[in-house]
Amino acid sequence: PHPYAAETLAAVPVVDISATGPGRAPVQQVMGLMREHGPVLVRRLHGRDALFVADLDLVTELADETRFAKHVGPALQNVREFTADGLFTAYNDEPNWAKAHDILMPAFALGSMRTYHPVMLEVSRRLIGAWDRAAHAGHPVNVADDMTRMTLDTIGLAGFGYDFGSFERTEPHPFVESMVRCLEWSMHRLGRTPGADHTAADTAFRADADHLARVVDDVIAARAGTDQSGTDDLLGLMLGATHPADGTTLDTANIRNQVITFLIAGHETTSGAMSFALYHLAKDPTALRLVQQEVDALWGERTDLDPTYDEIGRLTRTRQVLNEALRLWPTAAAFGRHALTDTLLGGRIPLRAGEAVTVLAPMLHRQPVWGDNPELFDPARFTAEAEANRPVHAFKPFGTGERACIGRQFALHEATMLLAMLVHRYRLGDHADYALEVKETLTLKPEGFTLLLTPRTPAD
Ligand code: HEM
Repeated sequence: PHPYAAETLAAVPVVDISATGPGRAPVQQVMGLMREHGPVLVRRLHGRDALFVADLDLVTELADETRFAKHVGPALQNVREFTADGLFTAYNDEPNWAKAHDILMPAFALGSMRTYHPVMLEVSRRLIGAWDRAAHAGHPVNVADDMTRMTLDTIGLAGFGYDFGSFERTEPHPFVESMVRCLEWSMHRLGRTPGADHTAADTAFRADADHLARVVDDVIAARAGTDQSGTDDLLGLMLGATHPADGTTLDTANIRNQVITFLIAGHETTSGAMSFALYHLAKDPTALRLVQQEVDALWGERTDLDPTYDEIGRLTRTRQVLNEALRLWPTAAAFGRHALTDTLLGGRIPLRAGEAVTVLAPMLHRQPVWGDNPELFDPARFTAEAEANRPVHAFKPFGTGERACIGRQFALHEATMLLAMLVHRYRLGDHADYALEVKETLTLKPEGFTLLLTPRTPAD
């Protein structure tokens, strides 16, 4: 049966994609459907319906936490097969969500970034070491692959004191390969044709999920038995901190789910965001010039100086570039909301309690509120003045409300620092005249994007 009532379906265009299926790029497919049918539609696949919304007024309503809440829909239910009641995939009323949220919140307050800064810097230097060697040898670098190395090592070290050593490997860390396959399985499982045999895919998925669990057990074991005192990273908090309300700690199974969750949520999306930012800078000399002026004003010609924590907060233009990259390509592109009671969305689309709507951020970020050329990369859209004049819900790369991204400041600090160091140090040679191809593995990444780097000279 259709999840939506006939009156709901009558209120919006219904587009049946069963003939083609969602393909390998379901987010971009819905973007295309919205360009044709408008920013509210039902996508029908083998009789399964999903209501997608990108209209600003409707998203503003969906952000109202008295009427709507996070929905763990089919995509996240698939991810739950390997993250269970971890923060990202927990149901709102699962006790472990509030418990873990309360225990871990202090680790993500803005002030905590000061604690992570030295590790983020150390890993940035690893990436720069690798890129210097590539520049010296005249080899191009694969941007998304190296950004993934950087963000995985950062969350491993900052969150769990565990070193993935990704820059010492020619291939991605096996954890990353298993994780990407698990995410792909979650995505492709959504588009399955009923009746087909998926045993092989499911067996391979189980093996990958088991591998993730084993890596995580290693991460936890490496810490167990050591002195926890004074350790206030994520793992230290989870092993040691008690919940203010009832004095209990998180149980072992839940800690494992949280570690997998953070290793995934803490690196895939940030890596994609930095890759898109570099893509846009490589294609846009004016935007690049503006951020170079900003970093040159701070550090002059000294590329050996270590950025301080406070300096990262002053990199306004670099931050604007990241925001603008996240506007065009929000790397976690969709999030689900459901109605808390029977309601009328936008005064015209009836929803029953529990019924879900998916917000498609890339199209929300291309609505008329962004002006008449939304495809144009323009970091000036994120000056303080421009932001103050724009409705708050026009920009939602980190989700919304109580279940919004806990790692937002972490991601922005890490990404702003590295991006600033990179534009300060290198000329970004678009040697292959790269044409953007966005790869989807539940998250978004520029596929096959390589840069040929050369050191900047004072004249650049
Ligand atoms: C939740 C995006 C970086 C950890 C979310 C959500 C979005 C998001 C959209 C909400 C999902 C939903 O409503 O279903 C992003 C983007 C990032 C980023 C675009 C980088 C640019 C990070 C980092 C961490 C992290 C660095 C950890 C260090 C989490 C967690 C949740 C979450 C644990 C679940 C929070 C909860 O429900 O309590 N993120 N994220 N994210 N994110 Fe992020």
